Amino acid sequence: MCGIVGYIGPRHVKDVVIGGLRKLEYRGYDSAGIATLSNGQISVVKAVGRLGNLEDKLLTEAVEGELGIGHTRWATHGRPSDENAHPHQDCSGKFAIVHNGIVENYVQIREELLAKGHRFQSETDTEVIAHLMEELYNGDFAGTVLAVTQRIRGAYALVVMAKDDPDTLIAVRKASPLIVGLGEGENFIASDIPAILEYTRDVYVLDDGEMAIVRRDGMTCYPLDGATTVAELHPVEKEVLHVTWDAVSAERGGFQHFMQKEIHEQPKAIRDTLTGRLDEDLQSVALPELSWTDESLQAIDRIHIVACGTSWHAGLVGKDAIEKIAKIPVEVDVASEYRYRDPLVTPNTLVIVITQSGETADTLAALRDSKQKGLRVLAITNVVGSSAAREADDVLITWAGPEIAVASTKAYTTQLVTLYLLAAYLGQARGTLSSDAKAEVLGALAGLPTVAEQVLDAAPRIERFAKDYQEARDTFFIGRGLDYAVSLEGALKLKEISYIHAEAYAAGELKHGTLALITDGVPVIALATQTHLYEKTLSNIKEVKARDAFVLGLTWAGDEELKKSVDEVIYLPRTSPVVAPIVAVIPLQLLAYYAAVVRGNDVDKPRNLAKSVTVE
Ligand code: F6R
Repeated sequence: MCGIVGYIGPRHVKDVVIGGLRKLEYRGYDSAGIATLSNGQISVVKAVGRLGNLEDKLLTEAVEGELGIGHTRWATHGRPSDENAHPHQDCSGKFAIVHNGIVENYVQIREELLAKGHRFQSETDTEVIAHLMEELYNGDFAGTVLAVTQRIRGAYALVVMAKDDPDTLIAVRKASPLIVGLGEGENFIASDIPAILEYTRDVYVLDDGEMAIVRRDGMTCYPLDGATTVAELHPVEKEVLHVTWDAVSAERGGFQHFMQKEIHEQPKAIRDTLTGRLDEDLQSVALPELSWTDESLQAIDRIHIVACGTSWHAGLVGKDAIEKIAKIPVEVDVASEYRYRDPLVTPNTLVIVITQSGETADTLAALRDSKQKGLRVLAITNVVGSSAAREADDVLITWAGPEIAVASTKAYTTQLVTLYLLAAYLGQARGTLSSDAKAEVLGALAGLPTVAEQVLDAAPRIERFAKDYQEARDTFFIGRGLDYAVSLEGALKLKEISYIHAEAYAAGELKHGTLALITDGVPVIALATQTHLYEKTLSNIKEVKARDAFVLGLTWAGDEELKKSVDEVIYLPRTSPVVAPIVAVIPLQLLAYYAAVVRGNDVDKPRNLAKSVTVE
């Protein structure tokens, strides 16, 4: 989840590396560092804290060079500090290393190296790589990197530079993403595409277990395939991925924060996700990306959805949609639980992993375990070329575009759209999608971009509410059925960026304990979009009102009943309750956003969190 940038070419290395890190800062941000090579000397500058601290240091500690590497860190082994920041070096300063991931056997390697006289500067697992390079170096840079990869276990994206080789950067990928950006007389390495979009749109995505030797005038890629010497490596032809989105789409545009921009991008993101999948007459759904035969489609007898956090919340809605529309039983699991609970599966169980980044460690582990069991895995992800996209048997991309804010918004709504499309697709193939349901669901999906635009008009009212309640210590989100699933997402969003304690409850469950916490003025956000559960929800709202809670209700425009029982109402433009989560979550995202802004929080980079969680 840290960010890596490497550059070799004629530009100012520092500018390219720091500029790239700035684009990646959202991936990890407790410290940063840069190493450059000039006149046979490697210079390293590191600083704890935001990238700005490193930039300040660079004003007085100049780094120049012909090539360089940089890193923004999100701590795993060792607290955030100057020493623990990357790049790391060996004792004699022959090498500099940046690394994402975890070296699982670093304790053992460190002990061996200590016994041989190596002195360590940091508490990190990464530093062992630099010392191993020094220990194993025999004058052959690539051969030494190869030897090191044979000693270390775990997940890594690794970039190494060597003092003796001013024309080479070596990158290795095992489980953590890495790309090589292609230029004229220059080349780039990065853990993510936005870092290099300013310079090139042509990239190679390294596959798992590949090593790239990157020079000014080109790069060669080798699958490691258990090779023990460089002579055993055979270059592989890589396909160039031409990135069609531009650098600007990865920037904030006119908005104050990425999260605000991304909330407002939802109408477009939803439209993009529907494009080409929903026919104009609203008669059918096409998902040509899926390789399923009619036979395999009919054979699916259960579905396991596996994901983390917000993506897990999307899975809860997906279960409802698939069970209702396609009549296939669905279980939804948090990935970190699923991988260890030995789930009961049949040979025809379809596993769906949902992951915005496509790199979440627990979700990938569930994907790999399922594949090992011989199950078919479908990945729903927002990142083309991500590990999930590459390793799953089938992939549905959510076309949300790059999501930079740590708090997921447009990725969530496009996951929901994709799950509804999938439910309808399964239903139409298996003959369970009645013509009434088809008209309702496909009609509602087609109308969503407009509805989402209209919901955004509620932003000023929600901002006012967030201001009035900025001192709140606890909040409760309640709802039944799909409203409960959305409540979970609303509460998570509020917690993660405003730091206000929030809990979501199935509205009927409150009186079994939590009602004891409802006292005078406690804010309760009550969702009432599920028509068949409306009366029941209303009773639960009255229960909290009777304890003097301050209730903000959410329901459909035209409803006259709810406002008699609550303090304020946000009205949603009418659409089918089946797709209500996609509409209802938007005011909750805005609520969390404004609550965070008014409390002066760092909205896009909430404390302790990172955008993609590539460790267990
Ligand atoms: C919260 C949020 C996280 C992610 C979770 C899984 O706003 O974004 O809860 O949903 O870390 O990430 P992905 O979807 O990348 O697997």
